[in-house]
Amino acid sequence: MPHASRPHHHHRRRRVPRPLPLVAAGALLATAAVTLPQLTPEASAATTLRGYADARGVRIGAAVGDGPLTSDSAYTTVLDREFNSVTAENAMKWDALEPSRGGYNWAAADRLVAHAAAHNQGVRGHTLAWYSQLPSWLKNGNFSAAELNTILKKHIDTTLGRYKGKVYAWDVVNETFNEDGSMRSSLWQDKLGTGYIANALRWAHAADPAAKLYINDYNIEADNAKSDALYALAKQLLAEGVPLNGIGFQSHFVVGQVPSTMKANLKRFSDLGLEVSVTELDIRIPLPASAAELAQQSADYKLASENCLGVARCAGVTVWGVTDKYSWIPGTFSGFGAALPYNESYAPKPSYTGLSNGLNPAA
Ligand code: XIL
Repeated sequence: MPHASRPHHHHRRRRVPRPLPLVAAGALLATAAVTLPQLTPEASAATTLRGYADARGVRIGAAVGDGPLTSDSAYTTVLDREFNSVTAENAMKWDALEPSRGGYNWAAADRLVAHAAAHNQGVRGHTLAWYSQLPSWLKNGNFSAAELNTILKKHIDTTLGRYKGKVYAWDVVNETFNEDGSMRSSLWQDKLGTGYIANALRWAHAADPAAKLYINDYNIEADNAKSDALYALAKQLLAEGVPLNGIGFQSHFVVGQVPSTMKANLKRFSDLGLEVSVTELDIRIPLPASAAELAQQSADYKLASENCLGVARCAGVTVWGVTDKYSWIPGTFSGFGAALPYNESYAPKPSYTGLSNGLNPAA
């Protein structure tokens, strides 16, 4: 898969407090529709993505970059009309939060959390322990295992503490496996061993007991060696009483290649009692995209979202961006692009309709 070789371093309006229990959200919306004379568009017009998601009590999210958030009102108009959840595309990664040791920069992350509160959106936190986007003081610090343990705990305590009650789910660990199911080399894995995962989950739970705690990865959507290894780990963590609540399936797909085993694979994790979420959906097309490829992409968006929403404990679907204007795909997968539901001028693409139909059980 191209993904394996990528250079991957590389309330106001509805008057409800932030993240609603998912099932309650739909019920409350129904009640509100009866008791309020009218809902503002942002409280989710029925035919928007968030309208369909609210109606069934799930999340439809988007990864948000600080650039567009602060500079592009066409962007925020679509974001706030269509999405009931946001993920920081980069602003909550370690290199962004703590560029020098003890020198924190919360500005961009705070902006997104405040934006979400103002627009009745939940926040998915991304991400705490990852091999990539680490500050150089940490990557090159030659820390001992004991020091790294303390540093990771402090990072989790500080970050979850700051956003306690404002983030409904955290990707506590990200991308911990190789394609063959072995543990991927990382600062954490190499120095601390696999036990860091259970420790990180326990520290995160202590810091924000209400947040759903996730393991997140890519190329685990199909039933394959990597997802088998994750399944075994998840089962073991649950047996040990470790506070693991969910699995995030990034779902960076190539057009026409949504895995045929995806739904059954998500179901086996859901059957363990875990939430499942699609956390970073995008579907890239070799450029220039043809009409046939855009139509296939639409079918793929519908199928990918249904593969999650058709499983009992699916909490929702997050798209890795809103518009092709800002997608990470062209810069990472050379020759590919057009991966998202909106084009560069904010016109909805066929994939918007596919995603919308995937969210709308009546479609
Ligand atoms: C990507 C961002 O989209 C880019 O802006 C950044 O340069 C690199 O990271 N898996 C993840 C995400 O978990 O954090 C990555 O986001 C995409 C792949």
